[in-house]
Amino acid sequence: MTPSLPFKKLKDGAYYEVKMLQVKQKLHKYFPETTVWGYNGTYPGPTIETMKDRTVMVKWLNYLPKKHLLPVDRTLHGAVDTPEVRTVVHLHGARVSPESDGHPEAWFTKGFKETGPFFATEVYKYTNHQQAATLWYHDHALGITRLNVYSGLAGFYIIRDHLEPMLNLPSGEYEIPLLIQDRSFNKDGSLFYPAEPPQPVPGVFPSVVPIFFGNTILVNGKVWPYLNVEPRKYRFRILNGSNSRTYTLRLSNGQKFYQIGTDGGLLESPVELDALTIMPAERADIIIDFSDSKGEYIILTNDDTDENTRNVMQFRVVLPLKGEDTSTIPETLYPIERLNENMATKVRNLTLDAVPDRYGRPSFQLDGRTWHDPVAQMPELGSIEIWNFVNLIAFPHPIHVHLVQFQILDRRPFDVQHYRSTGEIKYTGDPIPPDPNERGWKDTVRVTPGQVTRIIAKFDGYTGDYVWHCHILEHEDHDMMRPFRVIKSYFS
Ligand code: C2O
Ligand code: CU
Ligand code: CU
Repeated sequence: MTPSLPFKKLKDGAYYEVKMLQVKQKLHKYFPETTVWGYNGTYPGPTIETMKDRTVMVKWLNYLPKKHLLPVDRTLHGAVDTPEVRTVVHLHGARVSPESDGHPEAWFTKGFKETGPFFATEVYKYTNHQQAATLWYHDHALGITRLNVYSGLAGFYIIRDHLEPMLNLPSGEYEIPLLIQDRSFNKDGSLFYPAEPPQPVPGVFPSVVPIFFGNTILVNGKVWPYLNVEPRKYRFRILNGSNSRTYTLRLSNGQKFYQIGTDGGLLESPVELDALTIMPAERADIIIDFSDSKGEYIILTNDDTDENTRNVMQFRVVLPLKGEDTSTIPETLYPIERLNENMATKVRNLTLDAVPDRYGRPSFQLDGRTWHDPVAQMPELGSIEIWNFVNLIAFPHPIHVHLVQFQILDRRPFDVQHYRSTGEIKYTGDPIPPDPNERGWKDTVRVTPGQVTRIIAKFDGYTGDYVWHCHILEHEDHDMMRPFRVIKSYFS
C-alpha cells in the first residue's frame, strides 16, 4: 500500500489558469510510472476552494498531445470527424451560465485552435451563487468523456460558507476529500482501457464498451492507499469518480459513520449509516469517529465478491492525538426548503431504455431519443418541474441534470411490460420515499430498475443550453445524454 497524498490545493484566488498536461505519475510504490492526463499536471487535479458568492474565473488550457492515450471509437456522436483529442471542462453540480458550463460540444483543442459548435469563451466564470458543497470538475468532451476522465481529468471544487465553521465539524487537516475510482493497468504500468467489447463488433474498431469495471481501486490517484489518522473525528468528502462502478462502502470493524452532506451541500441532520452506496458522480460528506479505535487498522471496504475490488483504502489509527477533539456532529446541520409539488408547472415522463445502435451494439436512450435529436425539454426560467425517470432497463443508472440541484420525491414500482405495450404507467406498489441520506440537494440520482424515480427542481439562474445524462461514462458517450434548454418565461 501507498500512503495517500493530500491534494494539491490551488492558492486562493479569483483567476486561475489551469493547464491540462500529459505527465508520468507514480500511482503505487511498486508500479512503474503511469502516463496520465492531469489538470496542472497532476492526477487528480488540484482542489479549487472558494467562498460562496465569490466569483472564480478559470482559463482551462489544453496542452495535451494530438494523439489520445486511449482507443477512440470514431463511430460515436461527436467523434466522427473531429480532432482526436478534444477537451472541455464541466463543473459538476454548479449553477453556472451556459457559456461556462462545459457543454459537450463546447470542446477545444490545444491553443483553442479548433473548437466545437457550442464553444463560447476561453475563460469560464463561476459565480458560486449556491449552497456550500462538494463539487467536482471533469472533462466532458462529446463522445470521449469516458476516455478523458479515465486518463485523469478530474478534480475537486469545494464551495464554503460562513455558516459551516459555526457547526464545529472536523476541519483543517481533519477534513479530507476522497476521490474513489477504478482503473486497470498493463504490465508496463500504463492505463488499460478496452479497445472493444468482449464480443467484437464487425467493422468497428476501436469500439465502445457497454460498461467498464477496472480491477484496481484508487483513492486520490493512489492504488489501495492507507492514511494515518489520529483517534478522533474526521470529515471525508467522498466522490465516486469512476466511469461505471457503484460502491457500497463499509468500515471493516463494523463501525458506523455519519453522513452529513449530499451532492448539493449539508443535510438537514446527520444520518447514521453502516453502509453507503454511491453511484458514479455522487458525493457523500461523512464523519468517521476513530476515537475508540486507537492502534487499529480499519479498511474501507466495498461490497464485492472480487478480492481486488473489495478493498478501497485503509485507515491506520496510529497517530498520537495532537489535541483534544472538540469537533462535533451537530444534531441539526442546515435548513432545507422542500420544493412544493403543487408549485410544479410541468411534469415530464422520461424513459430510460436499451436500443441497439446502427451497428447492433447495445446502447441506451433517454426519452426515446439520441443525443443529436432536437431539444425536447425546455423548462421556463424560474419554473419548478417534476421529472419522472421511467426506467425500463433491468439496471440502475445515475442520472445527472446540469444547472440545478434537485430533490428526490420518491421511487415507485410499475409494470414495465404494460408500459412497453401501452405507453401507460401502471403502478404496482406504493411510492418509496428517498433514503434518509438522499433527503438533501442532489444533482445525480440513482434511477432504479422497474421503478419511476421522481425528482423536483427549480430551473433558476440562467437561460440557455444544458444537458442531462447518465453518469456511467460509457453510457453518456453512447447516446445516453440529452440536451435541455431553459427558456424565458412568458409571464416574467
Ligand atoms: Cu459530471 Cu454532465 O457531468
Ligand atoms: Cu454536471
Ligand atoms: Cu446508464
